[in-house]
Amino acid sequence: MFLVTGATGTVGRAVVDRLLDEGLPVRAVTRRPESAGLPAGVEVVRADLGDADSLPTALTGVRGIFLSTAGPEIPTHDANLARAAVAAGVEHIVKLSSGRAGDAAATDPIPAWHRAGEDAVRASGVASTMVRPMGFMSNALHWAPSIRESATVRAPFGQGRIAVVDPRDIAAVAVAALADPARHAGQVYTVTGPQALSPGEQTATLAEILGRPLRFEEIAADRARADLLRFGVEPELATAIMALRATALESFTSVVHPTVADVTGRSPRTFQEWALDNRAEFTAAQ
Ligand SMILES: NC(=O)c1ccc[n+]([C@@H]2O[C@H](COP(=O)([O-])OP(=O)(O)OC[C@H]3O[C@@H](n4cnc5c(N)ncnc54)[C@H](OP(=O)(O)O)[C@@H]3O)[C@@H](O)[C@H]2O)c1
Repeated sequence: MFLVTGATGTVGRAVVDRLLDEGLPVRAVTRRPESAGLPAGVEVVRADLGDADSLPTALTGVRGIFLSTAGPEIPTHDANLARAAVAAGVEHIVKLSSGRAGDAAATDPIPAWHRAGEDAVRASGVASTMVRPMGFMSNALHWAPSIRESATVRAPFGQGRIAVVDPRDIAAVAVAALADPARHAGQVYTVTGPQALSPGEQTATLAEILGRPLRFEEIAADRARADLLRFGVEPELATAIMALRATALESFTSVVHPTVADVTGRSPRTFQEWALDNRAEFTAAQ
C-alpha cells in the first residue's frame, strides 16, 4: 500500500492518479474526506499531519509514502509523519521538497522549512528520496482570472526565468521512486521542465494556445504580496512566497536538469503542452 499526503493538492493528486495508472494500491490522506473528490479505487483516510495521534491508523500496512506538506508547519508535519512511519515499519518516504532546499546559502523561509523537513525525514532512519522541483507550471493558473477578465497577466520579477515543470512530471518521478526504492532511496532529485521561461514568455505561449492577444504587465513585489493576502494566503506564508519569487532573478532557477527523462525514461512536458491540457481553465466562466 502507498500512502499519499496532500492528496487533494496539486502534486499529491497527480501522484494519486499516477499510482492508479500503474495499478498500485493507494491510500490518500485528507482532513476532509467528504469533500476530497478523489477517484474510485482510492482508499481515503481522515488524518491531520499536525495531530500525531491521527497518523498510526493511516499508516497501517503502508510500504511507501509520498509526503507533501506546505507552509510554516513543514518541519513539524514532516517530523510527525517520519516518527509515525518508523513506528509503522514503513520502508520508504518520498518527500516533495523545494528546488533550493539543498542550497545552504538560501536562508529565506521556504527552502529553510524544507531543509528542516528533509533533515527530520533523514534522521528517522527510514529510506528516503527527496524530490525538489524548481517551480510548477500550474502556478500560471493564478493568472486565469485576470486573463479571463482583462486579457492581462500581472506578475513581479518579469526578468526572472524559471525552468518550470508540469506537476504530472513531478508525480511521475515520485511514483518511479516509490515503485523502486532499491534504485531511488538515498537520491536527491532536482526536477525541472525542459525550458526556462519568464512570465512574459509564458504569457506569449498562453496567448498562442488561447488564440487571443494577452498583455504582460510587470507589477511591484508589494502589489503581488497584497494579491496573495487578498486570495487568503496567511501573512507569514505570503512573505515567504515573495522571498522565494525574488530568487527567480538568480541564474540557478533557469538551469534545466535532465531528471525527468533520467528517472522516467520520457521527456518532460513543455509549457505549451501543459497550457493546451489546461486551456479550459483560462477560458471557461468560473
Ligand atoms: N508551487 C511551486 O512552484 C512549488 C515549487 C517547489 C516546491 N513546492 C512545494 O510544494 C508544496 C505544495 O504542494 P502542492 O502545491 O501540491 O500542495 P497544495 O495544492 O497547496 O495542497 C496542500 C495539501 O496539503 C494538505 N494539507 C494541508 N494541511 C494539512 C494537514 N494539517 N494535515 C494533512 N494534510 C494537510 C491539503 O489536504 P486537505 O485540505 O485535503 O486536508 C492539500 O492536499 C509546498 O511544500 C511547496 O513548498 C511548490
